Amino acid sequence: MLVLGLETSCDDTGAGIVDDTRAIRAHVVASQLAEHKPYGGVVPEIAARAHLDVIDGVIDAALREAGVTFADLSGVAATTGPGLIGGVMVGAMAGKAIAAVRNLPFIAVNHLEAHALTARLTEDVPFPHLLLLASGGHCQLLLVRGVGDYELLGRTIDDAVGECFDKCAKMLGLGYPGGPLVEQAARDGNAKAFDLPRPMVGREGCDFSFSGLKTAVRTALEGRENTQAFVADMAASLQAAIADSIADRVRHAFAMLDERGENVTAFVTAGGVAANQVLRARLMQIATEQGAAFAAPPPKLCTDNGVMVAWAGLERLRLGLTDPLDTASRPRWPLEEIAKA
Ligand code: KG4
Ligand code: ZN
Repeated sequence: MLVLGLETSCDDTGAGIVDDTRAIRAHVVASQLAEHKPYGGVVPEIAARAHLDVIDGVIDAALREAGVTFADLSGVAATTGPGLIGGVMVGAMAGKAIAAVRNLPFIAVNHLEAHALTARLTEDVPFPHLLLLASGGHCQLLLVRGVGDYELLGRTIDDAVGECFDKCAKMLGLGYPGGPLVEQAARDGNAKAFDLPRPMVGREGCDFSFSGLKTAVRTALEGRENTQAFVADMAASLQAAIADSIADRVRHAFAMLDERGENVTAFVTAGGVAANQVLRARLMQIATEQGAAFAAPPPKLCTDNGVMVAWAGLERLRLGLTDPLDTASRPRWPLEEIAKA
């Protein structure tokens, strides 16, 4: 089995090819960072146009990297949501066109499921497992029972965690995207320098909240100059507050599952924010404490890419889950609403 996967839901044009031995045969990503940088965030119209400009070349590059042609593929997968709809449609149309012309099965992939299943490509993660999905648009804890079988345990009641990193980075004058820049700046900072709130810590359930943290950073910045030392201390303090808050929520999720008698032996984290090393170390520590195996994709597979879409497509294809060519693209598509395997 050989599957091509296309990702165009935000600001990365990705094409990946994987096979059923879990080998990554191609991993090509064209980033639009330069186009969006002047605006300090992703501009949907610019993103859609940029995907359209490069998608053919990105697909060609992936085929060349894998040393295969369309004739060698067993299926074509594309993200059909959730995401910026103009961009999603570019990848979905390209995938459907290849499937139609080559008479290949088409697999409509939920972007969140693609993030969620990536750890099963890089490590042998069994079902059921607990999943923390932390990205620019989402922050949720889910019980993953199988492909297409997700139960939402908790989610953010306001901003996504990546959004919090990005907005605070902007206030600190670090640029976009903020997560990696905050992580980098934090290396030289003191995480105890500022006493930022730990949102939701100790609260029942496992929902998240990050907007208060953003406000606290804004207040702390008032009348201060963004000197290098100050920015480093604030970045380290912010990262520590986020890690503390997430750690508490994950512990609560484990406790909830335990109370229900769910036997969860693995804890997986995915999404762009899962690339953060401080957070990963913390999450690994909690997994150990809970007696669960910890799995997180390598950082380059945490942020948006085509490989994760190809892998989710392959997991679905081998269960016989394919989709018609008139499958609609969806700006909103919660993971717990996707069809069960
Ligand atoms: O999964 P992703 O690439 O796109 C979405 O589906 O949202 O996630 C992007 C988010 C951005 O908010 C970015 O700042 C954050 O992931 N991110 C990080 C790191 N790398 C990316 N956040 C914290 N630390 C990082 N190293
Ligand atoms: Zn993503």
